[in-house]
Amino acid sequence: MSRTMFRTPFFNLLVLLLSICNVAVAQADDALAPRQSPSAAALASPLCQNYATVANISTVALNSTLRAAYIRSAPVGTFTSIKILDAEKPKIMALMMDAQLNQQCGNLSQVALAGADANLTAGTVLGLPILDAPGIGVGDPAMPIVSIAIFLIMGGTWLSL
Ligand SMILES: *[C@@H]1O[C@H](CO)[C@@H](O)[C@H](O)[C@H]1NC(C)=O
Ligand SMILES: *[C@@H]1O[C@H](CO)[C@@H](O)[C@H](O)[C@H]1NC(C)=O
Ligand SMILES: *[C@@H]1O[C@H](CO)[C@@H](O)[C@H](O)[C@H]1NC(C)=O
Ligand SMILES: *[C@@H]1O[C@H](CO)[C@@H](O)[C@H](O)[C@H]1NC(C)=O
Repeated sequence: MSRTMFRTPFFNLLVLLLSICNVAVAQADDALAPRQSPSAAALASPLCQNYATVANISTVALNSTLRAAYIRSAPVGTFTSIKILDAEKPKIMALMMDAQLNQQCGNLSQVALAGADANLTAGTVLGLPILDAPGIGVGDPAMPIVSIAIFLIMGGTWLSL
C-alpha cells in the first residue's frame, strides 16, 4: 500500500463516509436503548439470572427449529435434553408478564428472542455448536467413516439378496 493513498480524494471520501456511519450507528444505539436500562448489579442478582436462564431455555423449548437444533446437538442425549427444555417451559409466561420483574431486569424474554436469533445465525444454540446429526459435526472426521460404514452395511445387504 503506497503512502500516497492517504492523500487521495478517495481516502478523504472514505473517511467522510465512515464518520457519517459512526454518527448514524450512535443515534441508532440511542433509539434502541431501553427507557429504563437495568443496572449491572440488578442483572447479576439471582432473580434476574433465574429469569435470564428460564427465558433463554424456554425460547429454545418453544420454537421448533431451535428445539430440534438443541436436541440433536446437546451432548446429554435426546431424553435428557428434552427434559431440560420442558422443565423451564411452564415458568416463562408468569415471568414474562411480571411487570415489576421486567422493570427490574429489563424484558429478558425479548433479549432471549433476539439472542436466539443471533445465536442461530452464528450456528449455536444455548452455547452449543449446532450439529447436523446427533453427535456428528459438519466437519467431523467421523462423518466419512460413518458414510463408509453405511455403504458397507447396505452393500452387504444388497449382495446377500
Ligand atoms: C416482554 O416481551 C415479550 C415479548 O416481546 C412481551 O410479550 C411481553 O409482554 C413483555 N413483557 C412486559 C412486562 O412488557
Ligand atoms: C441469555 O441470553 C442472553 C442473550 O443471548 C445472554 O446475553 C445471557 O448471558 C443469557 N443468560 C443466561 C443466564 O443464559
Ligand atoms: C424460531 O426461531 C428462529 C430464530 O430466532 C426464527 O427465525 C423463527 O421464525 C422462529 N420460528 C417460529 C415458528 O417462531
Ligand atoms: C445465546 O448465546 C449465549 C452465549 O453463548 C447464551 O448464553 C444464550 O443462552 C444463548 N441463547 C439461546 C436462546 O440460545
